[in-house]
Amino acid sequence: MDSLHIVGGKRLEGRIPISGAKNSALTLLPCALLTADKLTLGNLPRLADVDNFSHLLNGLGASTKIAGVKKGEFGRRMTLSAREIASTVAPYDMVRKMRASILVLGPMLARAGEATVSLPGGCAIGDRPIDLHLQALEALGAEIELAAGYVKATAPKGRLSGGEYSFPVVSVGATENALMAAVLATGRSQLFNAAREPEIVDLCNLLVAMGGKIEGIGSSHLIIDGVEGLNGCTYDVMPDRIEAGSYACAAGITGGSIELVGARPHDMLAITNALAAAGLVVEFTADGIRVTADKPLKPLAISTAPYPGFPTDMQAQFMAMLCMAPGESFLEETIFENRYMHVPELRRMGANIDVCGRSAIVHGVERMTGAQVMATDLRASMSLVLAGLCATGETEVLRVYHLDRGYERLEEKLQAVGATIERRTTG
Ligand code: EPZ
Repeated sequence: MDSLHIVGGKRLEGRIPISGAKNSALTLLPCALLTADKLTLGNLPRLADVDNFSHLLNGLGASTKIAGVKKGEFGRRMTLSAREIASTVAPYDMVRKMRASILVLGPMLARAGEATVSLPGGCAIGDRPIDLHLQALEALGAEIELAAGYVKATAPKGRLSGGEYSFPVVSVGATENALMAAVLATGRSQLFNAAREPEIVDLCNLLVAMGGKIEGIGSSHLIIDGVEGLNGCTYDVMPDRIEAGSYACAAGITGGSIELVGARPHDMLAITNALAAAGLVVEFTADGIRVTADKPLKPLAISTAPYPGFPTDMQAQFMAMLCMAPGESFLEETIFENRYMHVPELRRMGANIDVCGRSAIVHGVERMTGAQVMATDLRASMSLVLAGLCATGETEVLRVYHLDRGYERLEEKLQAVGATIERRTTG
């Protein structure tokens, strides 16, 4: 089991290269199932979830080949080829390890006319149901059966007909599954109240590059005209706006200045607006975004929301940073029911936070002190790393495998801007 050891108090300064987006990679990878041609994805982050997903695709019959990356460089190229779909079953032991496995449901149904996928179950941040995925696929003509913990989806006559569906709740994953199913349906599909995250735009852009017909990209009303078949192509994954926002908080919490190289400003305006409101200087540069904290942080009131609102995936990181902002900050987590798992651990480092249901009040403190803390989920883990970077003394973050799911070479990137952080393998 690895742990991260951080000695806090260093002002971080320099440039951090931003990797390809985890949450885009995990929806672009299953697109390989939609065609018998080769699909090459560039700028893929080297993450546990990406590796797990490619193993899942191998089990379904897709070959995956990785081109090496030069030392110190980031972004791998993977060529995928699903000439045949060898199996249409995504087994429990794969899906329980990584909820995003549910994203093979739509493409398998579209390409093979059937799919059997284990129900993903909940996770640390919430129950994570998939009812909207299933309702959307039924609206496109799928027959859905639930049995023995599995979803069995079938396209009558082997092909979805297309249809209309209005999401009662904005869902990133359900929008992605519906898009990947609709592109090969026989007719026109329309999705209303669809998610608008930049990762959805990345998926639409890839599907169009493969020959799909999609209108309204970037809006909540998507119109998809099904085509007979899709071709392969080469496509680069977008930069990770959440990784970029996380390292911006590292600049904020240490009073430093970090240039987020490769970050795309228009993906993350809600994040950069919040950083500026907290008193950081945000500059859009030729290479990305530079974030500088040259004066005391200001408290904020933040409510998470679907894009273009403030992303739930940035809530824990901002909470850590706002622990050091004099005064009271207010956070409201409107997307997931249990996304304050980082609070007890931050309190052990001296943070002063009150939680009531989905709301939290952060009372700014003078300092935090290093401690041994336990990571519980990906973004909660990052909030503990951020607190460790500014805490007095040493912080040991356990269960670092959570971080490895979403942050490529985290300690290397932080060391490069002056952090004292190292990974130790214990047992
Ligand atoms: C994606 O999860 C991301 N994961 C999450 O990032 C992110 O927090 C989330 O979108 C919201 O932006 C990936 O892209 C792999 P949702 P997803 O469906 O698709 C409810 C991270 O840290 N809902 O948009 O699972 C659901 O319970 C991860 O990188 C239903 O009720 O999220 C939640 O309350 C964490 N029924 C809300 O919708 C459904 O069928 C939004 O969930 C589906 C979702």
